[in-house]
Parts: sequence; C-alpha cells; structure tokens
Amino acid sequence: MKTSMMKVFAGTANPKLAEAIAEHLDHPLCEINVGRFPDGEISVKVEEDVRGSDVFIIQPTCPPVNDNLVELLTMVDCFRRASAGRITAVMPYYGYARQDRKDEGRTPITAKLVANLIYGAGTNRVLTMDLHAGQIQGFFDIPVDNLMARPVFIDYLKSIGGENIVALAPDVGSSKRALAYAKKMHCEIAIVEKRRESGDKVHIGHIIGDVQGKTIIIPDDIIATGGTMAEAAKEAKKNGAGDIYLAATHGLFCGNAFDKLGGAPLKEILVTDTINHDVNGNGSRFAEMNIQVLSVAPLLGEAIDRIHHDKSVSFLFR
Ligand code: R5P
Repeated sequence: MKTSMMKVFAGTANPKLAEAIAEHLDHPLCEINVGRFPDGEISVKVEEDVRGSDVFIIQPTCPPVNDNLVELLTMVDCFRRASAGRITAVMPYYGYARQDRKDEGRTPITAKLVANLIYGAGTNRVLTMDLHAGQIQGFFDIPVDNLMARPVFIDYLKSIGGENIVALAPDVGSSKRALAYAKKMHCEIAIVEKRRESGDKVHIGHIIGDVQGKTIIIPDDIIATGGTMAEAAKEAKKNGAGDIYLAATHGLFCGNAFDKLGGAPLKEILVTDTINHDVNGNGSRFAEMNIQVLSVAPLLGEAIDRIHHDKSVSFLFR
C-alpha cells in the first residue's frame, strides 16, 4: 500500500502533453513556477510541499533540446533539495539519444553524458518512450521504463483496412520494429537498404522483400530531417507499392523536412505528441501535410499510475 502522495509537475517543454496526462490520471498538475532570469538562466520555484512525495516531472527533452534539458535538471535539483521522496523524470522524448556510441574517433557519447547529468541531478527513475537505442537504458544505474508507442499506431492503422499490408523497415536497424508491427498486424515485412551519408543525406539501395501492390506501413522512432522516410517511400513506390503510411513516434521535422516529405508519395504521416509541435510553428503545417498526431498521454498516464502503485509496467509493452 503506497502511502506517499503522488505529485505530478510539468516543465515548459510540452504543456499540452502534460495536461493530457494529468487528465488521464484525473490528477491536476501541481503548482510550480518555471521561468527565466533576465540573462536567460532558468528559475524554478515549487509552490507546494513535496517532502516525502512521489514526484513525477513531465519534461521531454524535445526542441529546444538544450533549454528543456537544463530545465529538467534544474527541476530535479529543486525537488531533491525540497526532500521529495522519489523523483521520476518523465521524458517521452529523450534528446541527444543519437550519439549512443563512438563509431568514429574523437566523438562524444552524448546519450551517456546526458544520462549522467540526469542521474547526477538526483533523479531516481526515468520513464521514456521509444528510445533511439534500447541500450541507453543501461547508461543509467536507476530503473528506466522505455514504453513503446506501437499499440497507439496499430490501433489507428487497423482502421485503414486492407489485407495486403507490408511493414517496411526504413533501414536494417529498424527491422526488429517492423517485425513487431508485422506480428501484431499479421502481415509481411520488407527492409530498405539505407546508408547514411551525412546528418541530412541518406542513400537508399534495394528493397529486400515484396512491396508490389501492397499497402505499406513504414515505422520508425524519429522523423528528423525526413530524408529516411521520404527516400524509403519513394523507393517503395518505384517498386510498385500502393498507399504508403509513415508511423514515427517522435516527429521532429527539422530543417526542410516538410519539403522532403511533401515530395514523397505518402498517404498519411502519423506521429505522436511526445514532441511539442507548436514550437517553430511545425504544427500549423500538419493539416496541409496530412500529418495526424496520435496521443500517447493515456499510455504515459497509465505508466505513471502503475509506477506510483508499484505495479508492473511491462504489462503496457504487450
Ligand atoms: C535512424 O537510425 C533513425 O531510426 C531514424 O531513421 C533517423 O533518425 C531519421 O532521421 P532523418 O529523418 O533525418 O532521416
């Protein structure tokens, strides 16, 4: 029986998501003032007692990543010094995840550096979603729950109908994800041979598998510059694919992503609300780009409730 009080706070990274989670929990967000000093430094003041409480901080480190990360660290420090019983960082998008290993000389492992900072600030556990690389969980010496948005996408995609579906992995690294979709949707998989030439340029080779005449679902964790998804869709179309749907958990849409995706043969683009799509005005382009935002707030709310009540979270992976 849990005796500590659950207290859910939101930083400024994604207020809509935080409100939606609070609504699902039927638990209002607690009072906190997060602001900026005149020189841009972050200021935080908790407006209620948190001593001994089970504190959840909803703060994905989505763009602006650096600001949102420092804000999270500052909030954790604040709660630790206010004697919170346990602090969980709810960061459905984990920024800096892409540099997760040293694949060439003289480069940092930023995903580990960020894990050190989050842990060092006083975080007791992390709740995240579709980490770019699952092994980032091991960069923390505290519990990390890495949820998947897949059930939310699959619920939606079931409504598109069609028996002739193929889950197409946009690169070899995504083949496990495509396989998981295929298992749930009882369909075949195919794989795109992709080589990354630079941060915003990819080279697409052959498609392994049959996409001719099929409805295609391309699942991925991130749409950043949009190059991977746009090129995979074009290649699928060249190979005779029918309607093509993209399903990416974190829709960052950086740089000229809308131009790239706009030039690709896409029926619909599905993303979630882990990212604040109002930043940079991205959200205002969604209708014209046929982008649907599916909410992962119920999934995150359920996970928070389960963590607070010491119930299994792996239940949510099924
Ligand atoms: C690659 O390993 C990832 O899963 C994504 O495919 C990649 O981050 C997408 O980046 P972009 O949209 O810039 O091609």
